[in-house]
Amino acid sequence: MTVTPKTNNHKPKRIGILTSGGDCPGLNAVIRAVVKVATFKYGWEVYGIPYGTDGFIELLLGKRQPEELRINEHGYDIPGLVQGLDILHFLSGSVLGSVSKGDPAQHADEILQGYEKLGLNALIVMGGDGSIEILEKLSRQANEQGSSWNWVAVPKTIDNDVPYTEVSVGFDTAVNRVTQALYDLTFTAASHDRVMVVQVMGRDSGYLAMESGIAGGADAILIPEVTPILDEQVMKGICRHIAKLRRYGRRFALIVVAEGVKNLLGKKEHYIGDYLANQIQEYSNKLCTTGDPDYCNLDKVDTRVTTLGHLQRAGTPTSTDRLLATAFGREAVELIANGNFNQMVIWQNGRVSSVPISHVIEQIEKARKEKVAPSRVDPQGFLVRTARDIGIYVGEVDLAS
Ligand code: F6P
Repeated sequence: MTVTPKTNNHKPKRIGILTSGGDCPGLNAVIRAVVKVATFKYGWEVYGIPYGTDGFIELLLGKRQPEELRINEHGYDIPGLVQGLDILHFLSGSVLGSVSKGDPAQHADEILQGYEKLGLNALIVMGGDGSIEILEKLSRQANEQGSSWNWVAVPKTIDNDVPYTEVSVGFDTAVNRVTQALYDLTFTAASHDRVMVVQVMGRDSGYLAMESGIAGGADAILIPEVTPILDEQVMKGICRHIAKLRRYGRRFALIVVAEGVKNLLGKKEHYIGDYLANQIQEYSNKLCTTGDPDYCNLDKVDTRVTTLGHLQRAGTPTSTDRLLATAFGREAVELIANGNFNQMVIWQNGRVSSVPISHVIEQIEKARKEKVAPSRVDPQGFLVRTARDIGIYVGEVDLAS
């Protein structure tokens, strides 16, 4: 491809890009789009910061040299990493590496000095709620110290819990991964008349569990927004549902539980799927001997658990994620071109736009106080109604109509 960047007599603008927090498919597609728009349309230089803000510290300490980090229209120059730019469109993970532990605020000075050393005019950060909050703190500190930390954020997470954007990079691919897993599990569940419990990621948000559960044909979907605790009422509801399926001749069941759902005591369980399967076993044994016709056929309930884990963050990004990543990457560069900093790109009503990061932070802080996800499934909304109305057990919900 012939590159004809817009040229002028000034030094080209220099922007950085980094990924922060847990990875997800589509991050590399954002990088590709950013590099293409920044270099082809504007003639800027793009620098990939390795391992989130840690990369700035490594630069400062001389462990990496600025020229090593340059991403150009031919791809990535760091030896050993993927060469070529267009391949990035299809790869999951982050070629930049990412960090989801530690507190960068403790190394704020080094990070800011590394940023200055690279001579960046602006930084693009791909992150979820936690990373956006951390980077905002750094940005405030930089401004207090009189240095210019110009940044824009691109929301990414399989949890889909970033406020203001209807969807984040990586979510659609994860929905498809879980949907496929549910389909695959259906046949082994059916062959053995089993109750298959599937634990799905999402932190405190039920989006991934709810959307993939509906798409994947689940019989029950438990999410923190609707069934925050696996109390007796919920356990009886699930058992009643399994019994009902059996009355119709269905001897197996697929039950999706979001990892944010808590145990009977309201505590988080690392393996809430295992906990739920044990509870189903216990309750069904108990209930089938009560003589209650609702539960009388619950003999020999056999449960198995699948915890999908990080497979949910794997796989080539879907076309929807590639499109979103590309549109978000382009928008991030346009925001910088217009000097419109401290913004997060969002997808709303079928188009890309942006909101001030301060608005996003407000929502994140509010949610933290309330101990809920910053963006949540509406318990009265169309997803829950759709699930309920096609006969999926979602809990004892009281919907107006
Ligand atoms: O936020 C994304 C996510 O995959 C969550 O769904 C999950 O709880 C968490 O990250 C897992 O984090 P880690 O990769 O640190 O185990």
